[in-house]
Parts: sequence; structure tokens; C-alpha cells
Amino acid sequence: MHDDGFLNLLDHDSFSHGVPHATFARLRKEDPVSWNDGDEDTRGFWSLTRHADIALANKDSQVFSSAQGIRLEDQSHEEYLARRTFQETDKPEHSVVRRTVNPSFAMPTVARFEALIRELASDICDKALAVDEFDAVDGIAKQLPMMMLGRILGVPDEDLDWLVEKGDALIGNSDPDFTDHVVDKMDTSAYRMMPFRSPAGVELYDYAEDLLRNRRAVAEEGILAKMLRDENGLKGLDFKNFFCLLVAAGNDTTRYSIAMALNLLAHKPELIAQLKSGQYWDTCADEFVRLASPTMHFRRTATQDVELHGKTIREGDKVLLWFVSGSRDETVFENPHDCELGRSPNRHLAFGQGGMHVCLGRHLAKLEVRIVLEELVKRIDTFEAIEAPAWTRSNFICGVKKLRVRATRAA
Ligand code: HEM
Repeated sequence: MHDDGFLNLLDHDSFSHGVPHATFARLRKEDPVSWNDGDEDTRGFWSLTRHADIALANKDSQVFSSAQGIRLEDQSHEEYLARRTFQETDKPEHSVVRRTVNPSFAMPTVARFEALIRELASDICDKALAVDEFDAVDGIAKQLPMMMLGRILGVPDEDLDWLVEKGDALIGNSDPDFTDHVVDKMDTSAYRMMPFRSPAGVELYDYAEDLLRNRRAVAEEGILAKMLRDENGLKGLDFKNFFCLLVAAGNDTTRYSIAMALNLLAHKPELIAQLKSGQYWDTCADEFVRLASPTMHFRRTATQDVELHGKTIREGDKVLLWFVSGSRDETVFENPHDCELGRSPNRHLAFGQGGMHVCLGRHLAKLEVRIVLEELVKRIDTFEAIEAPAWTRSNFICGVKKLRVRATRAA
């Protein structure tokens, strides 16, 4: 769909050729608190598109609550209770769980994975570059997040392809390449009590149930084993929902950030040369994540009437924080659509920075992005796209899902 600046943000097709940046630029300029009508399935909603407004709302969780759902979909209270994770709660409930999971994802813990990530990334790049032409998403971008997720969770390698397929079906629930149950094309109400209204949720619940009952093959150092050992760890449905959250959140997001980097490299060879210079390893991951901003928005619900830029957001209204738009706000970022590997400071919002729900996996994600690129650029002389990239059809998760490239190995 051609982005004439007026695309409907409710329509997944508006995103099927990439993020409609012209629409977001117009909204930031002309209509920063914009109302979007709903349809027969979804109530209307507000969109916040400016960096400053998103940051403000993200910080104020009393007024902009996560406790009625964080995606666009309307949920009954019963559905909300069945599917929620700590991401769909406010203080103080949120803080209790966040405190228990934080240490497993803190910077020092994640830094200990560096050698493992490098070993996996080297292997992935060698395998991918064994042929001259390949799909860089399947061959590179998808591989590392999946393997690391397995290590972090502590599940066996042989389950990983299956888990990733199910994670894709959850989070890519509006893309026919990822699911047979495309949410806006068919009635998915039978799965309304399941994560992402997806039948894949049933299968992931069963898998998690099996882990709970039998502690099947859970590696002792993994987060799941820790949680099962801990008396205060999550139990029953809470455990199953947390498991689904990690499978969904820890996988596609990092993949699409790596895929954004690969897509840029495949179109701008000067970036390969810049990376090879070694000057940008401390800053480049944030720049790729800023440009990718794969989870484009998360939703809040207003708990009281709010006046903003002449509009009145009513209590109970859904408000979307478009992190993808805030991360390209021209009042904050010079040349916002350019990839500037040394950009610093880089105040992007792709991880939901500034709010108490700021991404738990951000240190891990950035380390993975950096290391896989380090290992790739030292192995290549050229790396170019041979077909236009294909984008995931979704107004929630954005990314390149296919990228055919031709590469030559460095001598
Ligand atoms: C580049 C990759 C990633 C991006 C862009 C990303 C993005 C985000 C964003 C925007 C939020 C805030 C949600 C909100 O405000 O409601 C978030 C939260 C979260 N992310 Fe990530 N994420 C990434 C990688 C990961 C990884 C690798 C993991 C775990 C292995 C992870 C786990 C989580 C969890 C559990 C939350 C909820 C935190 C809370 O509610 O306190 N994410 N992520």
C-alpha cells in the first residue's frame, strides 16, 4: 500500500511494505494526539507519535495504565485475567515480579554470555556464508536469538525450531506466512483466552505445562529452572503466560533488529566499511534497534480524562505509544531516517525507555546485534541484496522477514 501520509494505522496492510514513515511524520507534525476509528472488532484508539508525548505517557503509569491490556485488541476482564503477564500489570504488582526476573537479564549476567554468543554467531555466519546466495533472515538474523532464547530458558536445542515457529505464529498473528489463523481475516474467538488469540498459544501452554509437571529437560542454570526452584517463583497460569511472553518477546524482536542491520548493509556498502573500521561497536546496536523499532507500539489505557495538545483523552480510552515514531522524531534526532552508526546520545524509544516496563531483554538483545555483526563483517567483502526485502504484515511487530543476498567472503 502506497504511503501517502494518510494510511490507516489499524489496517495491517498499511505496514505490509514496511513502516509507513510518511504517515507518522505527518501525524507528528499535524496531529500528534490523533484519533483512529475502530472497526467491527476493535474500538477506536488514540495514537501518540511525538517523542516527548510518548516519554511523558510512558512514565506516568498511574494515568496511562498497562493493566487493561497492552495491545490494540479489546479484551474482556476474563480474557485479560487469563492471558496477562507482569507486562500487563501496574505498580505495585508489576514491581514484585520484575524484581524477581531482573537479575537474570541484568548487564553483568548478560555479559557472561558474550563468549557463548560469539561462538554461536561465528558458527551461524560460517554456515550461512558457505553458499554465495542465501536468505539472510533465515540464515543469520533468525538463528542467534533462537539459540540464545534456548540457553536463557534452559530448554533443549532440539525443541528450538518448534518453539520459534510457535513464537512466530503468536506474534505474527496477522501475517499468513506465520499462521493459518490470521486475526483480521477469520474468527479467532475460540482462542480468545489464549496468548495473542492464537492456537499456537494452546501448544505453548501445553509445553509449559509439561515443564511444570515433569521439569522435563530444563537446564539447571536456565531461568525456567530457577523459577521452578524458587518458592516465590511464578506458578501455574502465571508461569505459562511468562513462558509465552519470553518465547514471543525474546525472539522476533532481536531477529528483526538484526534483519534491519542486514538490510541496511545489503543496500549501503559504506556501512560495511564503517563497521570494519571498528569505531562503532559501542554505538551501532542502538542505532540499528532505533531504526528497526520492531515492537512498533504498546498500548496503555487512560485511567482519567487527560488534555493533550487540545484533545481530550477520556478515561477508559486506549492510547497507543508509537515507539517506532518517537524513535524517528525530527525534533530529537538529526537526519532521523539515516543510519548514523556513531549516533550518541541515542535517545530512541525502541525498548520503551523511561517507563517501568522498559525492555527486560535489552542488554541481551544489543549484545546479540553487536556480536553477530562483528562476526559477519570480518568474514565478508561484499554483501548485497538481490531481491527487494519482504516485510511482516502487522501493525504491531515490524520487520524484514525475507532478504535474499549475495555475499563474497573476505580472503
Ligand atoms: C531488539 C530487541 C527487543 C526490542 C526492540 C524489545 C522491545 C520491548 C519494549 C518496547 C518493551 C516495553 C513494553 C511496554 O512498554 O509495555 C519490552 C518489554 C519487555 N521485553 Fe523486550 N524487546 C527486545 C528484546 C527482548 C528480549 C531478548 C527479551 C527476553 C529474552 C525481552 C523481554 C521483554 C519482557 C519480559 C518485557 C516486559 C517487561 C516489563 O513489563 O517489565 N525483550 N520490550
